[in-house]
Amino acid sequence: MTRIWTLTGTPDDERALAEAASLLRQGATVAFPTETVYGLGADGLNPAAVRRIFQAKGRPADNPLILHIASDQALSGLADPIPSLARGLTRAFWPGPLTLILPRRPVVPDEVTAGLATVAVRQPNHPVALRLIELTGRPLAAPSANRSGRPSPTRADHVRADLWGRIDGLIDAGATPLGVESTVLDLTTHPPALLRPGGITLEQLEEVIGPIRVEGGPGPETPKAPGMKYAHYAPKARLTLVTGTPEEVSRWIQREAQSLLEAGIRVGVLASAENAGGYPPGALVLIAGRRQHLPEVAEGLFAALRQFDEAGVQVILAEGYPEVGLGRAVMNRLRKAARRVVEAGDR
Ligand code: TXA
Ligand code: MG
Repeated sequence: MTRIWTLTGTPDDERALAEAASLLRQGATVAFPTETVYGLGADGLNPAAVRRIFQAKGRPADNPLILHIASDQALSGLADPIPSLARGLTRAFWPGPLTLILPRRPVVPDEVTAGLATVAVRQPNHPVALRLIELTGRPLAAPSANRSGRPSPTRADHVRADLWGRIDGLIDAGATPLGVESTVLDLTTHPPALLRPGGITLEQLEEVIGPIRVEGGPGPETPKAPGMKYAHYAPKARLTLVTGTPEEVSRWIQREAQSLLEAGIRVGVLASAENAGGYPPGALVLIAGRRQHLPEVAEGLFAALRQFDEAGVQVILAEGYPEVGLGRAVMNRLRKAARRVVEAGDR
């Protein structure tokens, strides 16, 4: 059975969080909001509790989890040694969507690190997550709260759709503001390596610590973040990601959508606000956001992928974005959701 607590922004919330924390201390799994996506939490120092996360998600056991802490003071209990670069980063970006890979301390169970010598840690920037961790009094191990391979959940309803009956609790505090997961930065190599682009941009990081190695170039793909090798974020529909200038992309999708519709195929278009008006009326057009405001695109991305599936769309045509700033994270997720990537200028 899954307990659900719907937070209301009143003092009652504190009682709900205390109940959730007490379940977590007993080894239960509870989904909770962070500023990026919903996480599926368990006591990160309790191996049996951590195994329940893997069972609920259907997650491969060789894919390690992030430990979430409520204060940067807690970092030194989990990782050792802590390189000097880490201090500058935590000062600049915590609490926030930056996960640091550091050498682990023995207290961290193998179940969390998948047997690696390193541990992933972050301090989330969401009042509910921070209070829940404080009340639990433990670091919370938490991957995104989706069934393995599905788009990450940015609404409590997404968690419900994927994990209802498979987890012990769900704290509903509305939509998650950022919409894409944290940036994962490996500080155990020289120079540090970007393993997953996310909410803190490469440009922001380099401003604080200098040059960073980007694993695999655009659309990072690396054996070092074990999670990045699996199929991800996949909607049930076939997704084609279309890159090029906004004009090329829009023209290519207009033509492709038209010919698919003529063949009787149900088509969805994941559009920018600027281009949305140009697509054929028979297609389900969902607006991700404005090109000039990539945070809007990031926020709406995963919800749109799920909405296409609910509408029974067979093919999704998605506009690509420039791979700078937050565009790196958006394009990384779109590439992972895509069955194919086309360059619109080539046609
Ligand atoms: O924003 C986020 O990071 C969300 C929220 C809930 O905090 N969490 C999240 O967790 O996205 P998950 O498990 O879906 O993704 C964690 C990523 C995976 O690609 C995993 O392989 C990588 O971090 N990772 C975890 N520990 C690692 C380690 N020790 N070394 C390298 N990569 C690691
Ligand atoms: Mg995930």
